[in-house]
Amino acid sequence: MERSAVTGATGSIHGFPAALTSFVGRAGVVDEIAGQLSQYRLVTVTGPGGAGKTRLAGEVAKRVAGRFADGVWLAELAAVRDPAKVAAAVASALGIRELPAVAAAYALAQTLARRQLLLVLDNCEQVIDAAAELCGRLLLGADDVRVLATSREPLQIAGEARYRLAPLTLPDPDNPADPDGSEAVALFADRARRADASFALDGETAPVVARLVARLDGMPLAIELAAARVEALGVAQLLDRIDDRFILLEAGDRLAAARQRSLAATVEWSYRLLDERERRVFRAVSVFPGPFTLEGAEAVAGPGAGPTVLHLVDCSLLVPPRAGPDGRSRYVMLETLRAYGAGLLAEAGEGDAVAAALAGYAVRVAEDAMSGLMAGTSEVTAARRLDAESATMRQVLDWAMEHGGAVAPPLA
Ligand SMILES: Nc1ncnc2c1ncn2[C@@H]1O[C@H](COP(=O)(O)OP(=O)(O)OP(=O)(O)O)[C@@H](O)[C@H]1O
Ligand SMILES: [Mg+2]
Repeated sequence: MERSAVTGATGSIHGFPAALTSFVGRAGVVDEIAGQLSQYRLVTVTGPGGAGKTRLAGEVAKRVAGRFADGVWLAELAAVRDPAKVAAAVASALGIRELPAVAAAYALAQTLARRQLLLVLDNCEQVIDAAAELCGRLLLGADDVRVLATSREPLQIAGEARYRLAPLTLPDPDNPADPDGSEAVALFADRARRADASFALDGETAPVVARLVARLDGMPLAIELAAARVEALGVAQLLDRIDDRFILLEAGDRLAAARQRSLAATVEWSYRLLDERERRVFRAVSVFPGPFTLEGAEAVAGPGAGPTVLHLVDCSLLVPPRAGPDGRSRYVMLETLRAYGAGLLAEAGEGDAVAAALAGYAVRVAEDAMSGLMAGTSEVTAARRLDAESATMRQVLDWAMEHGGAVAPPLA
């Protein structure tokens, strides 16, 4: 049986597609992950769809290839639907062809036990359990193998170091006319110039592009899809129409994977991986226009939604919590995900019930602040609490105006 492939030389890189476009920014991120890889044997880069995980892994591969006597190998798992075929797919990516699927994981670990290489396991999320199991086996059985995984959620096995990939940097909102140093603007400008040679960042376009990339959450795929539309629409119209982002951003690179050809497809890929209950919570929390607490999530998605919210954070569908002005942890949904969730909420006929639940929650927050004041809480504390919920309050008031001025408590 021919199992002796995986013959790479020091510094060699195998399986990565040639980059046809420039890589923008993230120099510090590449350094950091390269550093993690010298410390840990498994590093998982996580982030939402189109955040740039795969592209980044390619840059990290170039940076660290010299450390591996048998080089760096890419195993692309996005097309693998059947978890039972993960090990065979990885073996095939390594050039080890004749492995029966049942024994593939074992044989792979055996072969790799004699190699010193970095395996890049790309897009693990849809076969997460099988990918985790295989990684566990390799970490135990092949001492000189390291793994760089990319996934919308972590593998969650012992020995994993996680790197949560942040969006590209945005311009300072107070100074949008000066986007220097913003990675998101630099990416937009580069791709827009490819689409339309006459495009230039100037005093007129720069502030518009700054707002546009912020509305797209600094996400590279969304920015590329938008830039491809610049010739047809110009940046001002693009920004005007960004509320219709899923219609607007739907014709990407024909050679890209189907999930990356439109903004809707990339979000749908993650949504599809959720179970029914998680989907319901995802839809419900998309009603929040800004940061929300676990209590808020439970008010709109039902008691017991807390653990699901934490799972959505793991799946990169919510941003990890940060403390709001009142010190409470608050979760945020990226605007693209929120827009997608809101569409689903309406489609499922749940919009009014969830809006009413939100209104009930807003009333309780206001009442709590009031009773806190009566009981001697400082005005500053009460004001901070209301300030932290201000976006929600405003949305509830708008909703109440549309519905005849009444903020109804939720129906029991
Ligand atoms: N730093 C960057 N500079 C230039 N282009 C980038 C950068 N990051 C991502 N891109 C581009 O954005 C698109 C999406 O990136 P990528 O495929 O790496 O996302 P991903 O996070 O792996 O998405 P998915 O979860 O769907 O696999 C690609 O066309 C990629 O080339
Ligand atoms: Mg990817």
